[in-house]
Order: sequence, then structure tokens, then C-alpha cells
Amino acid sequence: MTIAPTHLLADGNSLPAIGFGTYPLRGDEGTNAVGEALAAGYRLIDSAVNYQNEDAVGRAIARSEVARDEIVVTTKLPGRAQGYDSTLASFEESRTALGLEYIDLYLIHWPNPEDGLFVDSWRAMVHLHEQGLARSIGVSNFTEEYLTLLQSETGVLPTVNQIELHPYFPQLELREFHQAHNIRTESWSPLGKGSDVLAQPEIVRAAEAHGVTPGQIVLRWHVQLGSVPLPKSADPVRQRQNLDVFGFELTPAEMESITLLGRADGRLFGADPVTHNEQ
Ligand code: A2P
Repeated sequence: MTIAPTHLLADGNSLPAIGFGTYPLRGDEGTNAVGEALAAGYRLIDSAVNYQNEDAVGRAIARSEVARDEIVVTTKLPGRAQGYDSTLASFEESRTALGLEYIDLYLIHWPNPEDGLFVDSWRAMVHLHEQGLARSIGVSNFTEEYLTLLQSETGVLPTVNQIELHPYFPQLELREFHQAHNIRTESWSPLGKGSDVLAQPEIVRAAEAHGVTPGQIVLRWHVQLGSVPLPKSADPVRQRQNLDVFGFELTPAEMESITLLGRADGRLFGADPVTHNEQ
């Protein structure tokens, strides 16, 4: 069993270097997959209200032999609940659905800039953090501009920004901004779901050179970039493989060749945070 090393967040909490993505797992399938993932050694579980699986994730945690305080549970505020009071109310619903007293990492799912409510939501999250109910608070899909606005309006920067990140969209500038401000990057769709990224010759060559799978190469690339990938897999064999990336190291040339697969239009779902509105 592999237990990932951890990063120290700006607020003093720790975050595993790889997490388990849960979308679109739900119901019994979701509970089983999260249970398998915990048994495989995952200690960071990434859920969201909009994945409709907080109940399934909560059941898996309740049934697991892994102690609650060893698991970092993430969930995310949906767009329709943005605003100060509605954020507090949505947080309570998430706690109830997950069956947890506290949530380890609570994120704003999307900025939804046209709604103009993310600063109010953030103030509510700062309050939840001060109460100890959300141990760490962060955001997802925020741009440099929106992160800067949070800081200027509230004085508090997120500890984490979870963004679309894979070899076709390596997010160089935003990662540099995160690094300069001690914000930990998390990668969603780390394997570039639905694209041919895992068949790229640079990745296949590295997999052959290290005797691992293309998926493991891409996940190791995230780890060496300092970003926390959140691969989803319903398959216990792949789950274990995806976590087992701490026994080899990519060379600087391999890292560079993978990063060079990036494209300006590399987003896979057309979800640009400046225009996307997710309720
Ligand atoms: P499965 O659940 O059958 O393993 P992403 O993390 O980029 O969102 O991609 C998730 C998708 O990639 C899922 O469909 C998952 O399918 C598949 N997947 C997960 N791990 C691997 C891997 N190591 N190699 C290839 N495909 C994978």
C-alpha cells in the first residue's frame, strides 16, 4: 500500500500529494470506489455538492477502518449557494450529507464572476475556518485576478486553488502565481480525460523507460510540478497504480517534453472560469 507524502499548507495543515477524484461516482458504486481508494492508501478524497455524492463518500468514510483524522475530506460550494448566508447554509447541508463534524478542505467550486458573489462567499468561508468547522479553505477555477480580489477585499488568500491541469493545459503562469503566494495547486482531470494525452509519444517513451504506465508518468509529472492530482478511477487496480508514483523520478528533459505538449486552447471541456457559470 502506498501512502503519499504530504505538503504543508499556508494555514499549517497538511495535504496529501495525490488525492482521489470522485466525479462521477455516486450511490453504491461511489461508496465502494471510495472504500477501495481508502483501503488502497488514498488519504485525500475530493467530493462536491454538484457531484451528488457527498452521502456516498460519507458512508465510505464511516465504514472505513482508516481513522477520521487521517483523511482529508474536500467538498465544494455550488454556484447556486453563493452569498454569505447561503454559503453557511450550504456548508451545513454538506456536513450533514457527509455525516462529518468538520470538513478538512472547503472550496468555492467556480467563481461565477457574472453573479458577483464570490467575495461574500469567501467571507463566510473565513468565518467557518475561524470556527474550526472548515479546517482549510480554498477555491477552484479561480484566475489570478479573482485570487487578487479575494486578498484585497478580505485580506485572506485561499490555501488551495483546484484548476484544470494536464499535459495539454499546464497552466504555467497561474502555477507561478500560486507559488509566489503560497497557494497549493490541485489538478482536476489530471489524466486529460477523454483526450489522447496518454498516447502521446513523449509520455509512452517515458513509461517504457521507467517501466510504469502512461497514467503513472502523467501523475508523476503533476507531483514533480508540485501540484496535487486528483485522479478518479473506479478500478481498484488502477487506483493503486495511480497512487504508486513515488518510486521513480522523471528527468528534467522528460518533465519539459511533457510540459511542451501544452496548447493555448488545451482546455478539454471549454470551461473558461471567466465565462463559465455553474450553478
Ligand atoms: P476508470 O474509472 O475505468 O479507471 P481524469 O482523472 O483525468 O478525470 O480521468 C479519469 C478517467 O481516466 C476515468 O475514466 C478512468 O477510468 C480513467 N483512468 C483512471 N486512471 C487511469 C490510468 N492510470 N490510465 C488510463 N485511464 C485511467
